[in-house]
Amino acid sequence: MRAVLVGPPGAGKGTQAQILAEELSIPKVSTGDIFRANVSGGTELGKKAKEFMDRGDLVPDEITNAMVKDRLAQDDAAGGFLLDGFPRNVPQAETLKGMLADLGSNLDVVLELRVDEEEVVKRLSGRRSCPECGRVYHVEYDAPNVAGKCDNEGAELYQREDDREETIRHRLKVYREQTAPLVEYYSGEGLLATISATGPVAEVTSRAKSAIAEKRSAA
Ligand code: AP5
Repeated sequence: MRAVLVGPPGAGKGTQAQILAEELSIPKVSTGDIFRANVSGGTELGKKAKEFMDRGDLVPDEITNAMVKDRLAQDDAAGGFLLDGFPRNVPQAETLKGMLADLGSNLDVVLELRVDEEEVVKRLSGRRSCPECGRVYHVEYDAPNVAGKCDNEGAELYQREDDREETIRHRLKVYREQTAPLVEYYSGEGLLATISATGPVAEVTSRAKSAIAEKRSAA
């Protein structure tokens, strides 16, 4: 299956992508995670991306598209993938369509996660992440067993640079202006399924699985 998750920052794309990718046995491809790994590894790509990420702006398309093309060409993505955070604007969506056409394939479903903006601010200001395994927690809604430590390997959890309230509000503006038009774009392509991303994580997963199954059976 080739699927895309779309939704505002904090909608739970990363959380749901991790669960769904495991259940569907396909790789989760998160552009935000790949950028962050490059920033912490001090690579050239990371140096180019960091200033945009810290401000909450999109990294330029030519950098992002080249990175995704390389990732989707890897063997583990040949049988399908779940994209989290890409595409982020209509030109990226057109590029993805072209990349897949070159490989003789296309997308099966685009799942939109809807959540209101005040909930997003609460979720992101309480988010903590593991630097080792990438698992995402929330200090209140999804707390680790020991405060500040990852349940998997006990690593010290960190707070993302772009999760300060002012930057969160800017990321929401970028989403409304540049990413939200994808909803209409993919609806026009007949690929869109929309669910509410409010409520417990397991409930959102269950809605996501039903929406994906319904879309695929209608195809
Ligand atoms: P990216 O990492 O993609 O950030 P984002 O889209 O802003 O999304 P987030 O990771 O903040 O949120 P999420 O929806 O994944 O929520 P999560 O599951 O973590 O991108 C970061 C930056 O990289 C961008 O700003 C840009 O600079 C650059 N970038 C990335 N892709 C790009 C692209 N294609 N083009 C250009 N630039 C790009 O959940 C959030 C919190 O809520 C967690 O604490 C979680 O535990 C909690 N939570 C999750 N679900 C629930 C629930 N149901 N109830 C309560 N709490 C919940």
